[in-house]
Amino acid sequence: MKISVVGTGYVGLVTGVSLSEIGHTVTCIDIDQAKIETLKKGISPIYEPGLEKMMLDNMDENRLFFTTDFLKGFKNPDVIYIAVGTPENEDGSANLAFVEQVALDIAHYVNKDTIVVTKSTVPVGTNHKIKQIIDFHLKMDVKIEVVSNPEFLKEGSAIRDSFQGDRIVIGADSDEASTIIEEINKPFGVPVYKTDIRSAEMIKYASNAFLATKISFINEISNICERVGANVEEVATGMGLDKRIGNQFLNAGIGYGGSCFPKDTKALIQIAGNVHYDFELLKGVVEVNKKQQRLILDKLHDLFMSIHGKKVAVLGLAFKPDTDDMREAASIVVTEYLVENGAEVVAWDPVAAHNAKHILREEIKYVDAIEEALGGSDVVLILTEWNQVKNLDPKVFLLMNDPIVIDGRNCFKLGEIQKYNVEYHSVGRPSVLRRKVFL
Ligand code: UDX
Repeated sequence: MKISVVGTGYVGLVTGVSLSEIGHTVTCIDIDQAKIETLKKGISPIYEPGLEKMMLDNMDENRLFFTTDFLKGFKNPDVIYIAVGTPENEDGSANLAFVEQVALDIAHYVNKDTIVVTKSTVPVGTNHKIKQIIDFHLKMDVKIEVVSNPEFLKEGSAIRDSFQGDRIVIGADSDEASTIIEEINKPFGVPVYKTDIRSAEMIKYASNAFLATKISFINEISNICERVGANVEEVATGMGLDKRIGNQFLNAGIGYGGSCFPKDTKALIQIAGNVHYDFELLKGVVEVNKKQQRLILDKLHDLFMSIHGKKVAVLGLAFKPDTDDMREAASIVVTEYLVENGAEVVAWDPVAAHNAKHILREEIKYVDAIEEALGGSDVVLILTEWNQVKNLDPKVFLLMNDPIVIDGRNCFKLGEIQKYNVEYHSVGRPSVLRRKVFL
């Protein structure tokens, strides 16, 4: 099949590269000239394990192309994927300006019957709106079908998810269109679920909202565990044994971040509001997450009257490991507070540091080695569970001026930490206090 993908962000690039990997001829289109030049050189603008190699292989095989030229990109494709961003408006709703512009471009350039597939996360009803815009502005007498095909990939495992995902959702108005999209995806070997367009659009929001709910739920349980002396990891394991609950997405921590959960939860609250439905539960999920991101600061306050002049080491800045994505990361709120209150912040992150430098306060010092961040510090905050952190020998904390660890991601086993004279506070688990030394 000849496929065009509009938008080379996370979703668009991974979609284009994986569709070329299974044998389709794919042209990725973007208005960002600099990004397209980078891609043409075989360089991925995002950090995503396995992506760059797969991209290069398919470029070599002449199956994957990049262009800013819409005329070229829309020349005779069988299918056009829309994968542009739907950023958050000030009121939390999804901004559809990019999607609508692509619909106009399609109407302008398309010259044969085409299926338009929406990968971008869009509010219920948007696919029908896209069809209306295209039909209204079409320059030629051709037939356009729209299909909703939401994306469920996770950053850091996007390539693996494309080939080993749990499901591919296809929402269409006609069997013909959904069968063509099913055929395109067949080589992935992932189960397909076919439904109507509006339900497909809703599945994406409902799934993300449900996962976010799981996280806020376990975070609230963890806060109660701390107060009653229970261990949230034990609780989550015990809960997860019930197949109806499942054992995933029950890791308590400092809340969810990233490009999807914060945006999509707020958008779904808006979608519900637009039809006069007050999604109270989801509003609670969002509020709990806000509170949870700041909880590590409350713990810091319980330990220090003032952090002015204290050297605070921060391990991990990305919203989760294996990505350089800083969007909605807890590190933004946390480091802002630290700098604002006069702390000397030394940060370490193996891949997100270069992005962080453009986002976080300029007073922050970045180091390449964890030991360097810890050396002489008064307290360390762990914000991302990178393997490099989880695999640390806790003895390394003894490099600190005062070995006090506040772990927002439960990276260490309590028993391991207990072997050292380190004070350790984590999420939803009993604290480990230092042994008294009698001279
Ligand atoms: C998510 C969805 O998983 C994916 O299906 C959708 O397409 C996009 O949004 P992603 O944002 O890449 O993917 O990250 P994910 O691994 O889901 O984690 C999101 C956030 O939740 C991270 O900040 C992570 O630290 C947090 N999280 C996740 C928890 O705090 N606890 C958990 O148990 C799981």
